[in-house]
Amino acid sequence: MMGRVVVAALLAVVAVLPAIVRGQLQVGFYNTTCPNAETLVQQAVAAAFANDSGIAAGLIRLHFHDCFVNGCDASVLLVSANGTAERDAAPNKPSLRGFEVIDAAKAAVESSCAGTVSCADIVAFAARDSVNLTGQASYQVPSGRRDGNVSLDVDATNNLPPPTFTAQQLVDRFANKTLTAEEMVILSGAHTVGRSFCSSFLPRIWSNTTPTVDAGLSPAYATLLQALCPSTPDASTTTAVDPTTPAVLDNNYYKLLSLNLGLFFSDNQLRTNATLNASVNSFAANETLWKEKFAAAMVKMGNIEVLTGTQGEIRLNCSVVNSGGSITSPAGIIATMAHHDYSGSIHNIATT
Ligand code: HEM
Ligand SMILES: *[C@@H]1O[C@H](CO)[C@@H](O)[C@H](O)[C@H]1NC(C)=O
Ligand SMILES: *[C@@H]1O[C@H](CO)[C@@H](O)[C@H](O)[C@H]1NC(C)=O
Ligand SMILES: *[C@@H]1O[C@H](CO)[C@@H](O)[C@H](O)[C@H]1NC(C)=O
Ligand SMILES: *[C@@H]1O[C@H](CO)[C@@H](O)[C@H](O)[C@H]1NC(C)=O
Ligand SMILES: *[C@@H]1O[C@H](CO)[C@@H](O)[C@H](O)[C@H]1NC(C)=O
Ligand SMILES: *[C@@H]1O[C@H](CO)[C@@H](O)[C@H](O)[C@H]1NC(C)=O
Ligand SMILES: *[C@@H]1O[C@H](CO)[C@@H](O)[C@H](O)[C@H]1NC(C)=O
Ligand SMILES: *[C@@H]1O[C@H](CO)[C@@H](O)[C@H](O)[C@H]1NC(C)=O
Ligand SMILES: *[C@@H]1O[C@H](CO)[C@@H](O)[C@H](O)[C@H]1NC(C)=O
Ligand SMILES: *[C@@H]1O[C@H](CO)[C@@H](O)[C@H](O)[C@H]1NC(C)=O
Repeated sequence: MMGRVVVAALLAVVAVLPAIVRGQLQVGFYNTTCPNAETLVQQAVAAAFANDSGIAAGLIRLHFHDCFVNGCDASVLLVSANGTAERDAAPNKPSLRGFEVIDAAKAAVESSCAGTVSCADIVAFAARDSVNLTGQASYQVPSGRRDGNVSLDVDATNNLPPPTFTAQQLVDRFANKTLTAEEMVILSGAHTVGRSFCSSFLPRIWSNTTPTVDAGLSPAYATLLQALCPSTPDASTTTAVDPTTPAVLDNNYYKLLSLNLGLFFSDNQLRTNATLNASVNSFAANETLWKEKFAAAMVKMGNIEVLTGTQGEIRLNCSVVNSGGSITSPAGIIATMAHHDYSGSIHNIATT
């Protein structure tokens, strides 16, 4: 009884502590330290999108691939001299794109408020802006992430779900990142935009050099894909993941699944389990419902294993960790004030 009162009182205290002291992300984290940060990122994304609308899909995937490997800490952006960083891993190379857009956004933000805005936040903002440009959907991005300095190809290989995963493997992988089975189905809806190289679906249409058609893949679609991607495909050939509206973030992905037009084996797996299938059917029937849930799931994904407070650093160049020394900036001072945080996020760089 007494214990419960104490716990309640403690919870009340924790609830009124500024979010920053608790090591949580906050909408408008840069309100005072870099008020135009989100506008500058949005402008960089809009400029890149005007040149190539496919870049939006690339930026949405970049955020996913950042968050699932060592948390949303911009580790996916780091370059390694010997080619052993996350971006060099098979799930990322050569398919991941949008790096130069992040660099352009970072350059704009640095010239406006140096050493203040993390690369990890820029990636999260850019994904949101890409959702806005392709889907007429908006959501606020809690920010205050800090940048990590560990980036290993093996971590990307071990944490990113491959397109050969079964429903159970997909559910387990997302659960490992605190995301529910429904959120896995919701976020897979990002496959309504963008492209894929042949290698990601080749086993569905070829058994060595013999044409084959995976169960759950329309034979007519398989024939088209076989013509585009021979058993030894051109390494540069790509095709739209959602061939009906490849540049629009809509619910066509879910409608296509029921027609055996999901491109990846993993996409089709969402229909093999009655629970997941029920979600697919509800999103196919109600686009508004999916968009609302997609925005919420993107925010949740953006919280995975984030570094906050004095953890990590504010990288000056998104491709490389800072070369020692501490950065003196308004954000750095705020971070120092938040040194004793109550964060539930345990992410010890020294052990990763
Ligand atoms: C559920 C597990 C997932 C699997 C197995 C998966 C797999 C893949 C694969 C194989 C590709 C094509 C890569 C290539 O070019 O060959 C791809 C593309 C893409 N994925 Fe996923 N993905 C998953 C979840 C997600 C999530 C959660 C998001 C974002 C919220 C996402 C966003 C995208 C986007 C936007 C593209 C197109 C990228 C571009 O056009 O540059 N995917 N995915
Ligand atoms: C930043 O400003 C917006 C708009 O006034 C507000 O909603 C948000 O809570 C503010 N965030 C912080 C951390 O001050
Ligand atoms: C425009 O997009 C193409 C790819 O479609 C890319 O090669 C080129 O670098 C982009 N140009 C600019 C200025 O962003
Ligand atoms: C690659 O370089 C990193 C340091 O940047 C080093 O830790 C790692 O051992 C190197 N890997 C290989 C395979 O040489
Ligand atoms: C897209 O973003 C702009 C700028 O932040 C915003 O004004 C607009 O309302 C957003 N669009 C939608 C449909 O939410
Ligand atoms: C669907 O998959 C989930 C997650 O793997 C599992 O918990 C559930 O029992 C499955 N439902 C059915 C009806 O197979
Ligand atoms: C995810 O898996 C790793 C090891 O594979 C484990 O250390 C970690 O606790 C798991 N996280 C969750 C939330 O299940
Ligand atoms: C999935 O939903 C469809 C309705 O679109 C239904 O015909 C099918 O039987 C369902 N499959 C499973 C495994 O529940
Ligand atoms: C679709 O979902 C929205 C958002 O949850 C809801 O308000 C609306 O009533 C749903 N529409 C139908 C036809 O069920
Ligand atoms: C890695 O990040 C920590 C902050 O967590 C920083 O103190 C350290 O200098 C960084 N390491 C390198 C090699 O830059
Ligand atoms: C950032 O670092 C990369 C890799 O070392 C380098 O190629 C690039 O020129 C740097 N960018 C800036 C703006 O200094």
